[in-house]
Amino acid sequence: MSVQKTVRKVTTHVLQEMKERGEKISMLTAYDFSMARMIDHAGIDVILVGDSASNVMAGHETTLPITLDQMIYHAGSVVRGTDRALVVVDLPFGSYQGNSKEALNSAIRIMKESGAHAVKMEGGEEVLEGVKRILTAGVPVMGHLGLTPQSIYKFGTYNVRATEEQEAEKLIRDAKLLEEAGCFALVLEKIPSALAGTVARSLRIPVIGIGAGGDVDGQVLVVHDMLGINNEFSPRFLRRYLNLYDDIQLAVGRYIRDVKSRDFPSQQEQY
Ligand code: KIV
Repeated sequence: MSVQKTVRKVTTHVLQEMKERGEKISMLTAYDFSMARMIDHAGIDVILVGDSASNVMAGHETTLPITLDQMIYHAGSVVRGTDRALVVVDLPFGSYQGNSKEALNSAIRIMKESGAHAVKMEGGEEVLEGVKRILTAGVPVMGHLGLTPQSIYKFGTYNVRATEEQEAEKLIRDAKLLEEAGCFALVLEKIPSALAGTVARSLRIPVIGIGAGGDVDGQVLVVHDMLGINNEFSPRFLRRYLNLYDDIQLAVGRYIRDVKSRDFPSQQEQY
Protein backbone atom coordinates (compact mmCIF):
# COMPACT_ATOMS: atom_id res chain seq x y z
CA MET A 1 0.00 0.00 0.00
CA SER A 2 1.41 3.37 -0.92
CA VAL A 3 1.30 6.07 1.72
CA GLN A 4 0.43 9.38 0.17
CA LYS A 5 1.84 12.43 1.90
CA THR A 6 -0.70 15.23 2.11
CA VAL A 7 0.76 18.70 1.99
CA ARG A 8 -1.08 21.52 3.73
CA LYS A 9 -0.95 24.21 1.11
CA VAL A 10 -0.20 27.74 2.22
CA THR A 11 -3.22 29.94 1.58
CA THR A 12 -3.96 33.54 2.42
CA HIS A 13 -5.86 32.21 5.47
CA VAL A 14 -2.80 30.24 6.62
CA LEU A 15 -0.74 33.45 6.44
CA GLN A 16 -3.35 35.26 8.52
CA GLU A 17 -3.23 32.47 11.12
CA MET A 18 0.57 32.70 11.16
CA LYS A 19 0.40 36.40 11.96
CA GLU A 20 -2.17 35.76 14.69
CA ARG A 21 0.01 33.19 16.44
CA GLY A 22 3.20 35.22 15.93
CA GLU A 23 4.88 32.80 13.50
CA LYS A 24 7.10 34.64 11.02
CA ILE A 25 6.40 34.22 7.30
CA SER A 26 9.24 33.30 4.93
CA MET A 27 9.07 34.51 1.35
CA LEU A 28 11.54 34.36 -1.55
CA THR A 29 11.35 35.17 -5.23
CA ALA A 30 11.59 32.56 -7.98
CA TYR A 31 11.15 32.83 -11.71
CA ASP A 32 11.56 29.28 -13.01
CA PHE A 33 10.47 25.69 -12.38
CA SER A 34 13.74 24.31 -10.93
CA MET A 35 14.30 27.09 -8.40
CA ALA A 36 10.64 27.04 -7.36
CA ARG A 37 10.88 23.28 -6.77
CA MET A 38 14.00 23.64 -4.60
CA ILE A 39 12.70 26.43 -2.40
CA ASP A 40 9.22 24.89 -2.15
CA HIS A 41 10.71 21.56 -1.03
CA ALA A 42 12.86 23.48 1.50
CA GLY A 43 9.60 24.72 3.06
CA ILE A 44 9.30 28.34 1.98
CA ASP A 45 5.84 29.79 2.76
CA VAL A 46 5.39 32.23 -0.13
CA ILE A 47 7.04 32.37 -3.55
CA LEU A 48 6.97 35.74 -5.25
CA VAL A 49 7.30 35.80 -9.02
CA GLY A 50 8.70 39.29 -8.74
CA ASP A 51 9.12 41.74 -11.56
CA SER A 52 12.74 41.69 -10.35
CA ALA A 53 12.87 39.00 -13.07
CA SER A 54 13.44 42.01 -15.30
CA ASN A 55 16.79 42.57 -13.50
CA VAL A 56 18.03 39.12 -12.53
CA MET A 57 16.65 37.03 -15.38
CA ALA A 58 16.66 39.48 -18.29
CA GLY A 59 19.53 41.81 -17.30
CA HIS A 60 17.55 45.05 -17.50
CA GLU A 61 18.61 47.95 -15.28
CA THR A 62 15.07 48.45 -13.89
CA THR A 63 11.86 46.47 -13.46
CA LEU A 64 10.04 48.63 -16.01
CA PRO A 65 10.65 46.72 -19.26
CA ILE A 66 9.22 43.31 -18.28
CA THR A 67 5.88 42.59 -19.97
CA LEU A 68 2.70 40.89 -18.78
CA ASP A 69 3.32 37.99 -21.20
CA GLN A 70 6.83 37.51 -19.79
CA MET A 71 5.52 37.56 -16.20
CA ILE A 72 2.91 34.95 -17.13
CA TYR A 73 5.63 32.72 -18.64
CA HIS A 74 7.73 32.95 -15.44
CA ALA A 75 4.67 32.47 -13.21
CA GLY A 76 3.50 29.34 -15.06
CA SER A 77 6.97 27.79 -14.67
CA VAL A 78 7.00 28.56 -10.91
CA VAL A 79 3.49 27.20 -10.37
CA ARG A 80 4.49 23.89 -12.03
CA GLY A 81 7.40 23.60 -9.57
CA THR A 82 5.36 24.36 -6.45
CA ASP A 83 3.35 21.95 -4.27
CA ARG A 84 2.97 23.84 -1.00
CA ALA A 85 3.86 27.54 -1.14
CA LEU A 86 1.47 30.34 -2.01
CA VAL A 87 2.52 31.75 -5.40
CA VAL A 88 2.14 35.54 -5.75
CA VAL A 89 2.85 37.30 -9.04
CA ASP A 90 3.78 40.94 -9.59
CA LEU A 91 1.57 42.90 -11.95
CA PRO A 92 4.26 44.51 -14.13
CA PHE A 93 4.66 48.22 -14.83
CA GLY A 94 2.07 49.44 -17.32
CA SER A 95 -0.37 46.59 -16.77
CA TYR A 96 -2.52 48.20 -14.05
CA GLN A 97 -1.82 51.91 -13.58
CA GLY A 98 -3.96 53.06 -16.57
CA ASN A 99 -7.37 52.22 -15.16
CA SER A 100 -9.09 49.62 -13.01
CA LYS A 101 -10.44 47.66 -15.99
CA GLU A 102 -6.92 47.24 -17.33
CA ALA A 103 -5.78 46.18 -13.84
CA LEU A 104 -8.56 43.59 -13.63
CA ASN A 105 -7.83 42.20 -17.11
CA SER A 106 -4.11 41.87 -16.28
CA ALA A 107 -4.83 40.10 -12.98
CA ILE A 108 -7.28 37.74 -14.66
CA ARG A 109 -4.75 36.87 -17.36
CA ILE A 110 -2.13 36.05 -14.68
CA MET A 111 -4.51 33.84 -12.71
CA LYS A 112 -5.99 32.07 -15.76
CA GLU A 113 -2.83 31.55 -17.79
CA SER A 114 -0.30 30.76 -15.03
CA GLY A 115 -2.37 29.10 -12.29
CA ALA A 116 -0.90 31.46 -9.65
CA HIS A 117 -2.72 32.16 -6.39
CA ALA A 118 -2.51 35.95 -5.97
CA VAL A 119 -1.12 39.15 -7.46
CA LYS A 120 0.99 41.96 -6.02
CA MET A 121 0.71 45.64 -6.92
CA GLU A 122 2.89 48.62 -6.06
CA GLY A 123 1.32 51.78 -4.65
CA GLY A 124 -1.40 53.00 -2.30
CA GLU A 125 -4.22 55.45 -2.93
CA GLU A 126 -3.18 55.88 -6.59
CA VAL A 127 -3.96 52.24 -7.41
CA LEU A 128 -6.80 51.67 -4.94
CA GLU A 129 -9.56 51.53 -7.54
CA GLY A 130 -7.69 48.81 -9.42
CA VAL A 131 -7.00 46.89 -6.18
CA LYS A 132 -10.72 46.96 -5.30
CA ARG A 133 -11.84 45.84 -8.76
CA ILE A 134 -9.40 42.91 -8.75
CA LEU A 135 -10.56 41.88 -5.27
CA THR A 136 -14.19 42.04 -6.38
CA ALA A 137 -13.34 39.42 -9.01
CA GLY A 138 -12.08 37.10 -6.24
CA VAL A 139 -8.36 37.54 -6.89
CA PRO A 140 -6.27 38.01 -3.69
CA VAL A 141 -4.07 41.11 -3.77
CA MET A 142 -0.82 41.79 -1.88
CA GLY A 143 0.10 45.47 -1.56
CA HIS A 144 3.62 46.92 -1.82
CA LEU A 145 4.64 50.27 -0.28
CA GLY A 146 7.86 52.09 0.59
CA LEU A 147 10.49 51.73 -2.11
CA THR A 148 8.42 50.74 -5.11
CA PRO A 149 10.91 50.04 -7.91
CA GLN A 150 8.37 50.65 -10.70
CA SER A 151 8.48 54.34 -9.66
CA ILE A 152 12.28 54.58 -9.68
CA TYR A 153 12.29 57.44 -12.20
CA LYS A 154 9.99 59.45 -9.91
CA PHE A 155 12.13 58.71 -6.80
CA GLY A 156 15.45 59.17 -8.62
CA THR A 157 17.34 56.83 -6.23
CA TYR A 158 17.03 53.46 -4.50
CA ASN A 159 17.62 55.14 -1.10
CA VAL A 160 15.57 54.36 2.03
CA ARG A 161 12.01 55.75 1.70
CA ALA A 162 9.66 57.44 4.19
CA THR A 163 12.37 58.93 6.38
CA GLU A 164 10.48 62.27 6.35
CA GLU A 165 7.29 62.70 8.38
CA GLN A 166 5.05 63.53 5.41
CA GLU A 167 6.01 60.44 3.44
CA ALA A 168 5.79 58.24 6.56
CA GLU A 169 2.27 59.55 7.26
CA LYS A 170 1.19 58.86 3.67
CA LEU A 171 2.62 55.33 3.93
CA ILE A 172 0.63 54.66 7.12
CA ARG A 173 -2.53 56.02 5.44
CA ASP A 174 -1.94 53.92 2.31
CA ALA A 175 -1.34 50.78 4.37
CA LYS A 176 -4.69 51.30 6.15
CA LEU A 177 -6.47 51.93 2.83
CA LEU A 178 -5.04 48.72 1.34
CA GLU A 179 -6.09 46.69 4.37
CA GLU A 180 -9.60 48.21 4.33
CA ALA A 181 -9.89 47.48 0.62
CA GLY A 182 -9.26 43.79 1.40
CA CYS A 183 -5.57 43.13 0.58
CA PHE A 184 -4.45 39.90 2.29
CA ALA A 185 -0.88 41.08 3.00
CA LEU A 186 1.48 43.96 2.45
CA VAL A 187 5.15 44.20 1.44
CA LEU A 188 7.15 47.10 2.89
CA GLU A 189 10.42 47.76 1.09
CA LYS A 190 13.40 49.71 2.38
CA ILE A 191 11.84 51.92 5.06
CA PRO A 192 12.96 52.63 8.65
CA SER A 193 12.35 49.60 10.88
CA ALA A 194 10.49 51.64 13.52
CA LEU A 195 7.96 52.78 10.91
CA ALA A 196 7.59 49.23 9.54
CA GLY A 197 6.97 47.96 13.09
CA THR A 198 4.29 50.60 13.66
CA VAL A 199 2.53 49.59 10.43
CA ALA A 200 2.76 45.85 11.22
CA ARG A 201 1.30 46.35 14.70
CA SER A 202 -1.52 48.58 13.46
CA LEU A 203 -2.65 46.20 10.68
CA ARG A 204 -4.53 42.94 11.09
CA ILE A 205 -3.05 41.53 7.84
CA PRO A 206 0.54 40.21 7.62
CA VAL A 207 3.25 42.73 6.77
CA ILE A 208 6.32 41.31 5.03
CA GLY A 209 9.49 43.34 4.94
CA ILE A 210 12.54 43.69 2.72
CA GLY A 211 15.00 46.13 4.24
CA ALA A 212 12.30 47.02 6.78
CA GLY A 213 13.78 45.47 9.94
CA GLY A 214 12.66 42.58 12.11
CA ASP A 215 9.56 44.09 13.71
CA VAL A 216 7.27 42.87 10.91
CA ASP A 217 5.44 39.58 10.28
CA GLY A 218 7.81 38.08 7.73
CA GLN A 219 10.76 38.63 5.40
CA VAL A 220 11.27 38.49 1.64
CA LEU A 221 14.50 38.48 -0.36
CA VAL A 222 15.37 38.09 -4.03
CA VAL A 223 16.62 34.51 -4.30
CA HIS A 224 19.50 35.40 -6.65
CA ASP A 225 20.78 37.89 -4.06
CA MET A 226 20.54 35.62 -0.99
CA LEU A 227 22.17 32.70 -2.82
CA GLY A 228 24.96 34.93 -4.14
CA ILE A 229 24.19 34.15 -7.80
CA ASN A 230 24.11 37.88 -8.30
CA ASN A 231 27.21 39.20 -6.51
CA GLU A 232 27.00 42.82 -7.67
CA PHE A 233 24.23 43.88 -5.32
CA SER A 234 25.10 44.20 -1.63
CA PRO A 235 22.65 46.44 0.21
CA ARG A 236 22.87 46.53 4.01
CA PHE A 237 19.61 44.54 4.40
CA LEU A 238 20.84 41.55 2.38
CA ARG A 239 22.12 38.42 4.11
CA ARG A 240 23.95 36.09 1.70
CA TYR A 241 23.53 32.39 2.53
CA LEU A 242 25.73 31.08 -0.31
CA ASN A 243 28.21 32.45 -2.80
CA LEU A 244 26.98 30.58 -5.84
CA TYR A 245 28.64 33.01 -8.24
CA ASP A 246 32.07 31.92 -6.94
CA ASP A 247 31.09 28.23 -6.65
CA ILE A 248 29.81 28.18 -10.23
CA GLN A 249 32.97 29.91 -11.51
CA LEU A 250 35.05 27.17 -9.84
CA ALA A 251 32.86 24.32 -11.12
CA VAL A 252 32.76 25.65 -14.68
CA GLY A 253 36.53 26.27 -14.58
CA ARG A 254 37.07 22.61 -13.57
CA TYR A 255 34.75 21.41 -16.35
CA ILE A 256 36.61 23.48 -18.96
CA ARG A 257 39.95 22.06 -17.78
CA ASP A 258 38.59 18.49 -17.86
CA VAL A 259 37.24 18.92 -21.40
CA LYS A 260 40.46 20.50 -22.72
CA SER A 261 42.69 17.90 -21.05
CA ARG A 262 40.45 15.04 -22.36
CA ASP A 263 39.89 13.90 -18.79
CA PHE A 264 36.12 14.20 -19.41
CA PRO A 265 34.43 11.96 -20.42
CA SER A 266 36.15 8.96 -18.83
CA GLN A 267 35.51 5.33 -19.85
CA GLN A 268 32.75 5.12 -17.21
CA GLU A 269 31.06 8.20 -18.59
CA GLN A 270 30.48 6.85 -22.11
CA TYR A 271 28.59 4.05 -23.87
O1 KIV B 1 10.07 42.08 -7.59
C1 KIV B 1 10.49 41.76 -6.47
O2 KIV B 1 11.41 40.94 -6.32
C2 KIV B 1 9.86 42.38 -5.31
C3 KIV B 1 10.49 42.13 -3.97
C4 KIV B 1 11.73 42.92 -3.84
C5 KIV B 1 9.55 42.37 -2.86
O3 KIV B 1 8.91 43.08 -5.43
